[in-house]
Amino acid sequence: MSRRPLIAGNWKMHLTLSKAIELAQTVVTTCGKCTDRDIMIAPPFTSLAAVVATVRGSSIHVAAQNVSWEKEGAFTGEISPIMLNDLGVSMAIIGHSERRQLFGEDNDMINRKLHAALGAGITPIFCIGETLDDREAGGTLSVLETQLRKGLEHVTPKQLTGAVLAYEPVWAIGTGKTASKEQAQEIHGFLRGLLTGMYEKNIAETVRILYGGSVKPENIDDLMAQPDIDGALVGGAALNAESFERIIRFR
Ligand code: PGA
Repeated sequence: MSRRPLIAGNWKMHLTLSKAIELAQTVVTTCGKCTDRDIMIAPPFTSLAAVVATVRGSSIHVAAQNVSWEKEGAFTGEISPIMLNDLGVSMAIIGHSERRQLFGEDNDMINRKLHAALGAGITPIFCIGETLDDREAGGTLSVLETQLRKGLEHVTPKQLTGAVLAYEPVWAIGTGKTASKEQAQEIHGFLRGLLTGMYEKNIAETVRILYGGSVKPENIDDLMAQPDIDGALVGGAALNAESFERIIRFR
């Protein structure tokens, strides 16, 4: 089955409001009418509403970088999936390694966030990835399997249909070191195999698996040529209009 590629830009904690609007406008100019690939951008919360307004009428999706597992209440500093949906935000990055490593998110919290997002009609971009220590200790596959199984606990086949998974080796994020296309394909194939076992082949085949970690204009074409790589989650290179345009226009 063919999955429509998804190129996603994670802006992290970068860009003030005016810069965010400016960058969003360039993305609309580049691919606002593309029908053969999906494009998503994830600005900081402070620019979400303005970026949603900027891309309105185009095919660009807007995502949040995080989401609460609660619907509403006394949770200072949190943003609920209902609020995101109300704003016109259609996706949320969940379980990014920076959330796991710097803000103490564990598999259980991430599972709760996935359920909250799905319940509010927000498509999760569920991130998993091994650290350098995990890899060197030969633990890559078991770490990924645990993150995947625990993150998806009680997620139904219907909910998983059309979901997005992102494989981001922590050692490749922001380091300039990319997994080779062979390394990435091996892991993506492994993950799709796990999904096939946990759900069913026809459902696992609908899940887009993105690669993330130092994706750049120089490596995007090779990565996208792999059968189980369905897109990219791009950090640093998504902040530059020219390099993000080249990544969007992968060949
Ligand atoms: P990077 O970040 O492209 O800067 O390595 C990717 C990510 O963290 O999603």
